Amino acid sequence: MKKTVATFADAKAKGEKLTMLTAYDYSFARLVDGAGIDSILVGDSLGNVIMGLPDTLSVTMDVMVHHTLAVSRGTKEALVVADMPFLSYQVSVPKAVENAGRLLKEGRGHAVKLEGGKVVAPQIRAIVDASIPVMGHIGLTPQSINAMGGFKVQGKSNETITKLLEDAKAIEEAGAFAVVIECVPPNVAELITKELKIPTIGIGAGKNCDGQILVYHDLLGLFEDFCPKFVKKYLEGGKLISEAFRQFVSEVKEEKFPTPEYGFQDAPDVLDKLY
Ligand code: KIV
Repeated sequence: MKKTVATFADAKAKGEKLTMLTAYDYSFARLVDGAGIDSILVGDSLGNVIMGLPDTLSVTMDVMVHHTLAVSRGTKEALVVADMPFLSYQVSVPKAVENAGRLLKEGRGHAVKLEGGKVVAPQIRAIVDASIPVMGHIGLTPQSINAMGGFKVQGKSNETITKLLEDAKAIEEAGAFAVVIECVPPNVAELITKELKIPTIGIGAGKNCDGQILVYHDLLGLFEDFCPKFVKKYLEGGKLISEAFRQFVSEVKEEKFPTPEYGFQDAPDVLDKLY
């Protein structure tokens, strides 16, 4: 069944957990979609896991459009949410609407996600008014890595917890359909989840959010640069894939591949006619 923003509202009303994973291309979108996921995020985490950058800051709108289109082609049922990259929405409200529109018009996504709370509420309102569903993102917001001074758990003091709650409410009031809460103590995420009418999607925020999201490279053990504490590896994919690649290299060197079953029949009489 096709998932929409209504799926998110229904799940919260019924107390059913929502599931989200990232995807960045057609083949993985098909796999993730086929697993029955509610929503696929074309995350700007592609800056890390696809482009090998230390952060997400250099990801551009063109790159996001390119990957969103690939993912939407591979998706039949999941809601495709595309990340708005750094400086694609912070500069002005009109620019935010225009860029959000590109992710739907050119990328064929169904919704956009942007980072921040109160300060981006005017952008969220304007994008929603342009009939583009918006997902918020609070807590650890990787586009603010330089201002935050590193990848750290957020919301550990009364002051920061109050700010997180105010930001979450501002996002809801601006019309967002859901909000990601990243790297926040579980009891703080639970409090926010109880206070909001829209669903919360946690990553490193405990089990009491309305849903969970992970970057699939982390879940499959494909990204070896670093592994956050909140990641559960469901597969040692990196090791399995490396082993397959090593086997290919050695079989070619040893002339074990390709055997006749992996090729075509010899052309009849061709060589006789040529020579
Ligand atoms: O870019 C991304 O993958 C994200 C998730 C980690 C929530 O924003």
